[in-house]
Amino acid sequence: MPARIAPLLLAWYDQHARTLPWRGIRDPYRTWVSETMLQQTRVETVLGYYDRFLKRFPIVADLAAAPEDDVLKMWEGLGYYSRARNLHKGAKQVMAEYGGIIPSAEEELRKISGIGPYTAGAIASIAFDQPVPAVDGNVIRVVSRLRGIRENVGIPSVRRMLEGEAALLVPATRPGDFNQAMMDLGATICVPGTPSCERCPLQSLCDAYAAGDAEDLPVLPRKNPPKVIDYAVCLIFSGDRVLMRQRTEAMLRGLWVFPMAEGKLTLRQVPAAVKKLTKLTVTDVQPAGEAKHVFTHQIWQMQLCTMSAPENAEAPAGYRFIPVDEMAELAIPTAVKAAVKAVYKHMLECT
Ligand code: ADE
Repeated sequence: MPARIAPLLLAWYDQHARTLPWRGIRDPYRTWVSETMLQQTRVETVLGYYDRFLKRFPIVADLAAAPEDDVLKMWEGLGYYSRARNLHKGAKQVMAEYGGIIPSAEEELRKISGIGPYTAGAIASIAFDQPVPAVDGNVIRVVSRLRGIRENVGIPSVRRMLEGEAALLVPATRPGDFNQAMMDLGATICVPGTPSCERCPLQSLCDAYAAGDAEDLPVLPRKNPPKVIDYAVCLIFSGDRVLMRQRTEAMLRGLWVFPMAEGKLTLRQVPAAVKKLTKLTVTDVQPAGEAKHVFTHQIWQMQLCTMSAPENAEAPAGYRFIPVDEMAELAIPTAVKAAVKAVYKHMLECT
């Protein structure tokens, strides 16, 4: 039965494939970039980044030669920035260890920074025509329904079994199209919750459809709810400059943020918290609104406030006073974009 799946799915793909800028090309670098951007990110979002990124870094050598800050700037707003840092590191590795040629063998691909099992399978099949699977969340959902895998896919042995089933489905011809067809099916028909089985080209071969439990699959591991953290985001002005720092923490590393004091602070508590964080003495603390950002594991609940440091204050270690008209050149995470707006608003009000 698995052998009957590919012809049906490819026939459906020939009719219904989405026209996307990373399709119909055979360039492993481009596939690497697109598949990296597409991890945990919707196609519609990636469409706004893919062409611009490749215009700036047309070949792997260009990416390898670029400063990390430029790479992060091109990734600004896409989220999961470790993808960009690892892609950049991987590009340097391809230059140093593979003479600038992205290897075609899955085992070699997996040795490159930023290329895990999924991306290796995607590059090998899409760019090099190798009959290997590329198992992402969409494919897990499609395969668990199609083959009736009713155990928790977070369990390593179950996951391996699912990957084995996925591998059996990949045809010798058009493996890249087949893998992308699985992704399209998962994104448009075999969706989470209630799938559109009435439109599915694989309905007659689907175990879950026959059993009537497609909407219960896959069985996913329990996720911990994200942790809510309160912050006072401190917009510290010194003349027409504002204090920022480039994060060194694993989360959002390399991105620029404002000083953030943890906790639910009253305005009166802010100067002492700022002193502790930055050693600066600030005055005229004013509220500047609230913002919230939901990450995978954290929710930031932010109270924004503006305040003044002396006109020619020196930035403390680890911080920089950034002229407000140069802020746009920095990579700033979406989580603090509301704070950026408050900075511009404050500057307008002060002139
Ligand atoms: N999601 C991950 N890879 C994809 C691709 N190549 N096309 C559409 N959606 C995807």
